[in-house]
Amino acid sequence: MDVDDITTITVLGAGNMGHGIAEVAAIAGYDVRLRDVEDDLVRAGYENIEWSLNKLAEKDRLDADPETVLDRISLLVDLSAALEDTDVVIEAVPEVMDIKIDVYEEVAEHAPDRAIFATNTSSLSITDLSEVTDRPEQFCGMHFFNPPVRMQLVEVITGAHTSDDTIEAIEALAEAFGKTPVRVRKDSPGFIVNRVLTPLLNEACWAVHEGDADIATVDSTSKYDIGLPMGAFELADQVGNDVAHHVLEYVNSELGQAYEPCPLLTDKVEAEQFGEKTGEGWYDHD
Ligand code: CAA
Repeated sequence: MDVDDITTITVLGAGNMGHGIAEVAAIAGYDVRLRDVEDDLVRAGYENIEWSLNKLAEKDRLDADPETVLDRISLLVDLSAALEDTDVVIEAVPEVMDIKIDVYEEVAEHAPDRAIFATNTSSLSITDLSEVTDRPEQFCGMHFFNPPVRMQLVEVITGAHTSDDTIEAIEALAEAFGKTPVRVRKDSPGFIVNRVLTPLLNEACWAVHEGDADIATVDSTSKYDIGLPMGAFELADQVGNDVAHHVLEYVNSELGQAYEPCPLLTDKVEAEQFGEKTGEGWYDHD
């Protein structure tokens, strides 16, 4: 498919990443269908987009009128309606292989033959996911960073079966979104960013867990000395402690011990203190 033939984009999952991706696509002028499994979830995603667009407008970071952008987004729970006549499906459902497999089996049944499937998975195998669909050659990774509307990079990942046409269309789509795609040629756990970033967040936890420093000191050091835009713990709260923990567990199982999650991070996840999205993480976000 040529990027110029893409007009309609279906985003599956209205959570942190899904609503942000839908927002990016709508700002770029596409017709967007935002779909989740319950009305409340889709509505919450829409309200987050509304908040974000107004914030962008307030900061003079948005060329369009927020209402015009919102009008391009349809909210859906019915999967077959969300997929009808769509060109690209961007999937951002929870990072659980079995959930993604169930979703893809159903999506493959309802999506038009021409539609490309792009997963926003942060670490799982693109090849394994592609193989549960009817179109592994029209399947690739399209990994955005949080918050998608502010982060420039998109990792575009080739699976073992991805065709050149597919990868080129998705790279061009990322550019049409105003983003900078980087092609990840090998479908390896954590791709590039999470392979490098999650051990950094994990090491920050180990430094506190072992009593070397407190959270505030690690955060000021990572901001002012290492040059991160946010402190390591601030960033973990923004990414989601659950997401970081999940990526570490998966990469640990595939690549080994260096990625073993620190018990301090595991405790946070068990206490369901995921960060900004739950109102509590390393910091209070209420
Ligand atoms: N939409 C609109 N506005 C937003 C927003 C959003 N989604 N998120 C934050 N803002 C607003 C804030 O509310 C704030 O507004 P106020 O000043 O009114 O409070 C404003 O943006 C802050 O923006 P600034 O440009 O003034 O501040 P900044 O220079 O610190 O930039 C940032 C903010 C771009 C988020 C920056 O801190 C940053 O780059 N942080 C790192 C984020 C990062 O690395 N993300 C990737 C994580 S890894 C991942 O996501 C992948 C994975 O698979 C785990």
